[in-house]
Amino acid sequence: MSGYDPYEIRKDFYIFVNTDIVYLDNAATSQRPRQVIEAIREFYEKSNANVHRGIHRLSMEASKLYEEAHEKVAKFIGAEMSEVVFVKGTTEALNMAANLLLDHLRGGEIVLTRMEHHSNILPWLRIARIVGAKVKVVDVDSDGRLLWDSMEKAVTEKTRVVAVTLMSNVSSVINDIERISRLAHSVGALVVVDGAQGVPHLPVNVKSMDIDMLAFSGHKMLGPTGIGVLYIRKDLAEELEPAFPGGGAIKAVSYTDEGFKIVWEDPPWKFEAGTPPIAQAVGLAKAVEYLERIGMENIYRHEVELIEYFFKRLAEEGLEDKIKILGPRSLEKRGGIVSFTLGKQDPHVTAYMLDKHKIAVRSGFHCAQPLHERLGFNRGSVRASVYLYNVEEDIEKLIVALKTIANLA
Ligand SMILES: Cc1ncc(COP(=O)(O)O)c(C=O)c1O
Repeated sequence: MSGYDPYEIRKDFYIFVNTDIVYLDNAATSQRPRQVIEAIREFYEKSNANVHRGIHRLSMEASKLYEEAHEKVAKFIGAEMSEVVFVKGTTEALNMAANLLLDHLRGGEIVLTRMEHHSNILPWLRIARIVGAKVKVVDVDSDGRLLWDSMEKAVTEKTRVVAVTLMSNVSSVINDIERISRLAHSVGALVVVDGAQGVPHLPVNVKSMDIDMLAFSGHKMLGPTGIGVLYIRKDLAEELEPAFPGGGAIKAVSYTDEGFKIVWEDPPWKFEAGTPPIAQAVGLAKAVEYLERIGMENIYRHEVELIEYFFKRLAEEGLEDKIKILGPRSLEKRGGIVSFTLGKQDPHVTAYMLDKHKIAVRSGFHCAQPLHERLGFNRGSVRASVYLYNVEEDIEKLIVALKTIANLA
């Protein structure tokens, strides 16, 4: 049992009250509970002002809410407030990470893995080109799990950064980040973790994982779009110069005959130049509160139980030889995403037909084409992904629809 009642949870989500859609596209974005929507509305109706620059009461109120949001999110991942930088989302966070580490990477090597999302590949390729760094890719096995031999071979004295996902957005494989950190740190490399899928679904603690940076998005964890986080370990945050400087990032800028003299703000503010996503931060803080109330361990267990149920029902309905799964069948170290193809059917056709059954899934490469190609899914896959509010009936409807579609194909 999950430790909470998902049927009770569903009452907080207007989308499930107002529609009968089976929502299995949570890896793309989650739905938001009324508590989050109301917190954002209340902010705009009662406290709206810009932060950090005003003496007036509304600005002070907005600043207080904005700072509290940092504190809540920091606590959620076991960090300190000064280590939590608000950005637009995971993609922006990873781009910021790559840009922040520009000097550090010069002439060195960056280690990625075959299971990365394009957002954890492209920013590194760009920076590697600029600074003349080499990019190495760690291979996976036929289940999509990291090959440790390949990791050990890739990480050398020249490695400056290991950038790896906590959980694959396709196979749902969960990586052993502690082990990767030990290896990377043994050669003095930094560990940057893409937590876009991990943070919304697993208990995460940056200190026990011993990582240097962590990126994640609010919209995949019940929060609004337009906000994400880059966690930067304290000593690193103090040492690094902002990659996107501007107003709000400095204590002072003076201009003398010798040129400009700049005193940076303390972290996280020096990394948050310009008007930040204030209402979104308020919404994200509420989302974090909501997740903490349910408990991340409970959410993780609930999702794995739903995937277990899916595998069981596939077997019972004799669909196992028609549905080819991308990723492990074992429930060990995997989350609530299942990607597959149905016979020889194009994944977009399967997704289109599932939509006719009012089931929302994703189709294509899910921004992880190298992984699909490595595992022989050259036309992509269909991806069903669950969250805390999905129930066995959702999986049952998926099974019934897949059976109907398989019989037509
Ligand atoms: C593993 C992973 N990394 C990065 C991203 C990019 O997240 P965002 O689109 O919120 O920037 C996603 C989202 O699809 C993801 O699943």
